[in-house]
Amino acid sequence: MSAINAGIKEIDAYILIKRNSLKNYMYADTIKILKETKAKSTWFPNYQEIIEFDIRGDRTYRPRYTEIYDFSVMKDQIVVDFGSNLGQASLEAYFQGAKKIYNFDNQRAAIESANIMSQVLGANIVNNIVDFNKSTFEQDILNVVKVWDWAIFQAIYRTEEIKNIEPIFDFVVDNTKRGIIFEGHTDPKIDTDEFYRNIFEKYNFKEIEYLGHSNGRPAYLLLKKDEWEDWGTEEFIMQISEPSTEEVSNE
Ligand SMILES: C[S@@+](CC[C@H](N)C(=O)[O-])C[C@H]1O[C@@H](n2cnc3c(N)ncnc32)[C@H](O)[C@@H]1O
Repeated sequence: MSAINAGIKEIDAYILIKRNSLKNYMYADTIKILKETKAKSTWFPNYQEIIEFDIRGDRTYRPRYTEIYDFSVMKDQIVVDFGSNLGQASLEAYFQGAKKIYNFDNQRAAIESANIMSQVLGANIVNNIVDFNKSTFEQDILNVVKVWDWAIFQAIYRTEEIKNIEPIFDFVVDNTKRGIIFEGHTDPKIDTDEFYRNIFEKYNFKEIEYLGHSNGRPAYLLLKKDEWEDWGTEEFIMQISEPSTEEVSNE
């Protein structure tokens, strides 16, 4: 029986739009403002491609998120991207169903662009300006987010502008509960599997999985804990019974 014959006057309708078609539904003004904001980036203004907003860049969505990384592990989880740039990874986490996402980068134009995109999509991603070179970086991050399941640390470890990466990576590893999506850099002489495994050694990860090379960069999944390990513990019960606190963007 059809809905009308059954006397139903209203039904819910769902319209499915492919991610790479979303740009066709954006206001031209939104795309213009976004592109102008992004163009103010002081560091590689054409770095990340963002398919939803017709933003072109050298770090393309494919094969990065179609062949190398599988962010479906982040479904219903809290995710933090350290050195997020425009937030390409955070959008992938959002479309894979992450519960809450935080971006940190020191470029104002990148963070403002990420904010525009989050607002347009209603993604509620928290975008923050943080300088990893400042001695206050840990507190600056913890003022925004205290607990997270997954960290994204892509193409950060050997970023020249970051003066001392070790305390930053130590902080990320210490404070991440489940795992880290890690990507190295591109110099074939330096960025070898051996180089990165030597770095990972001191952290005693539960598992290190090589995922392949993403645009010439070695990619790894660094697991700290399996999902089920927390079940039933006091920490787990506290976490599911406490409402999450959402703090909004800082300076
Ligand atoms: C090579 S890009 C990687 C971007 C992103 N993670 C990716 O893989 O697509 C390095 C990022 O680190 C950011 N960055 C550089 N120096 C920084 C600093 N001192 N504090 C925070 N972010 C920084 C840059 O703005 C840039 O977005």
